[in-house]
Amino acid sequence: MTLSLDTIVSLAKRRGFIYPGSEIYGGLANSWDYGPLGVELKQNIKNAWWSRFVHRRTDVVGIDAALIMNPKVWEASGHVAGFSDPLVECKKCHSRLREDQMDGECPSCGGKEFTPAKQFNLMFQTFIGAAQEQANVAYFRPETAQGMFVNFKNVLDSTRVQLPFGVAQVGKAFRNEITPGNFIFRTREFEQMEIEYFIPSPKADAEWQESFEHWRKEMLAWMTAVGIDTEKVHELDVPDGERAHYSKRTIDFEFEFPFGTKELYGLAYRTDFDLRNHQEASGQSLEYTDPETGEKSIPHVIEPTWGVDRTVLAVLCSAYREDGERTYLALRPALAPFKAAVFPLLKNKPELVAKARTVFGALREKYMVAWDDRGNIGKRYFAQDEIGTPFCITVDFDTLENDTVTIRDRDTAEQRRVPISELDSIIANAIRL
Ligand code: GAP
Repeated sequence: MTLSLDTIVSLAKRRGFIYPGSEIYGGLANSWDYGPLGVELKQNIKNAWWSRFVHRRTDVVGIDAALIMNPKVWEASGHVAGFSDPLVECKKCHSRLREDQMDGECPSCGGKEFTPAKQFNLMFQTFIGAAQEQANVAYFRPETAQGMFVNFKNVLDSTRVQLPFGVAQVGKAFRNEITPGNFIFRTREFEQMEIEYFIPSPKADAEWQESFEHWRKEMLAWMTAVGIDTEKVHELDVPDGERAHYSKRTIDFEFEFPFGTKELYGLAYRTDFDLRNHQEASGQSLEYTDPETGEKSIPHVIEPTWGVDRTVLAVLCSAYREDGERTYLALRPALAPFKAAVFPLLKNKPELVAKARTVFGALREKYMVAWDDRGNIGKRYFAQDEIGTPFCITVDFDTLENDTVTIRDRDTAEQRRVPISELDSIIANAIRL
């Protein structure tokens, strides 16, 4: 089956995962809003990430920094001078295009003549306070990473971390992309999950390479855990001259999206570039003192970075299935918006409805559970399949006799009878990541 992006976009809108942004005003190009199911899926992804990389590790702590930081941060980090893409304009239709993403022809009109390339800085500018003047210019952060670097000293001084350790953050980032598009793949406002993993200043390449390799494997394990089809993931060692200004080695994890194989995640060795520059620019020491030897040095950094929205898209593309007359999302149960749906077999039998309400109420205390009593059971199953609900639980006449229900598995469409008392453990086991 070849999956088209339109199939995902239309399912996402129809079922309340993702809507076009500001739609009643004709939309705002390339902006998207997460609906009731999308926000659950996205939140489940972020929670799974936080639990895996912060809660379950003893060497990573979290932070949540401000979106607008002191503009000096972006001077020291190199973003004011270097965070830009080469912009050209088509002489025929005046479309603005990224020179490095086209092959000599304007994708809008086929024109072949362009203005000379100009560097276009991708940071979103704003002004702090009432006066819109140069002295008040500030930027929305283009990556969450700098929050970790500028708080490095605070984290050292206020916690008991020792090298090697990581600082993690999940949050919004903003880039004034020249060519956004492909649904939520490239937008101007998006979310990142990033870790800056600080290691002792390496005496040999093998030292940073070991940590790099650890994170490479962790990133692959994450993809498997959240159900990204790893057969469609390819690692690209980004060659010299094409890496970000701060990186000595970068691997892009690319995914075969319906519109082509494109970057999903990145892993970079940022050396001591950021801490060293911030130390110089701020005048504050960002050195680490080895507790045993007393030796001072600036740590180096391995940075694994995950786009949240690209994760949502890769997870949806990996989970989409067509099977005869039904479509289903084989989402990992931990990520599914609803963990189960509860149905009374018949809507017009008060005793069935009352019993089903009791089962629903008890499960709802712990899990996101859907209720449906419309139409026939087959249609209810299909509706839940399409949004990836792993279990459908039906209360029927036998339930009134012996407190058992049928539970139907989304992927196999098979049903079995189980005691109501087992439902909690069935769901709890299934949603473990
Ligand atoms: N701190 C390093 C950094 O920001 P990046 O490769 O520029 O590196 C990291 O971005 C990740 O953020 C990407 O791998 C991608 O998943 C996501 N990302 C970057 N730009 C994006 C955009 N315009 N829209 C959606 N996601 C984006």
